[in-house]
Amino acid sequence: MQKNNRKKIILVANWKCNPATLREAERLFRATVNVIPKNKNTEVVICPPYVFLSRYKIPARPAGGQDTRYKLGSQDVFWEETGAYTGEIGPRMLKSAGVSHVIIGHSERRELFGETNETVQKKTAAALKAGLSVIICVGERTREGDASVYISFIKEEVASALRDVPKSALSRVIIAYEPIWAVGSDEPDTPHSALEMAIYIRKTAADAYGRSLAQQLPVLYGGSVSASNAGAFLRDGGVDGLLVGRASLHPKEFGKIVKITQDINK
Ligand code: PGA
Repeated sequence: MQKNNRKKIILVANWKCNPATLREAERLFRATVNVIPKNKNTEVVICPPYVFLSRYKIPARPAGGQDTRYKLGSQDVFWEETGAYTGEIGPRMLKSAGVSHVIIGHSERRELFGETNETVQKKTAAALKAGLSVIICVGERTREGDASVYISFIKEEVASALRDVPKSALSRVIIAYEPIWAVGSDEPDTPHSALEMAIYIRKTAADAYGRSLAQQLPVLYGGSVSASNAGAFLRDGGVDGLLVGRASLHPKEFGKIVKITQDINK
């Protein structure tokens, strides 16, 4: 049992490019918040598409009855604050829209939109500088062949993302281990190999920051997470939380994942 008393369990709901309309987003958002009970030991980060974000801004000082059961995350960020970059969204814009977390380097951005370790590094530094927390996604394309090849691939993803991150900002960094073959498929990884990868990820961070800081670094698992495998990853996968894609579009299913998480971290 890998239960970790030092850290909250983090659940990230990545809606990706869904739903299609504001009306549906409202419905999904309300239904999602309804399945998140108040709980100090779990942090739920809801990541809708950019255009819906400011609707769900949490007031700086929530008045009685206002919702603080979730944090707001974006699915990407640009590395410049402002300027002639048509279509981009800067980190301070996100901050002022109520966003506290940003996903950076999701495999879909890397595969479909040409993101590289270099762009991930720039986005990470810029987001941290703006005071945001970052959820950096890493993961291998395939597990075929020599294990040392995909392990060093991931180590390089982690090391380069962290290259410009000062020690003082490390408490706002989260790494999501998401093997690409498991994302959007129906083939989740096993808790056992997620555990191995979480160890390699922390080891890479330890090389840069020392062991004790690296031990504090939250590592999440993502890739076909559902209510039927969430418990196993949290108990046996050595991870501090989960990044949930498709299942986060179904509030009932997502609610089950939240419940499983809270039961584990009681
Ligand atoms: P999935 O997506 O849960 O649908 O596999 C995971 C992700 O967004 O990375």
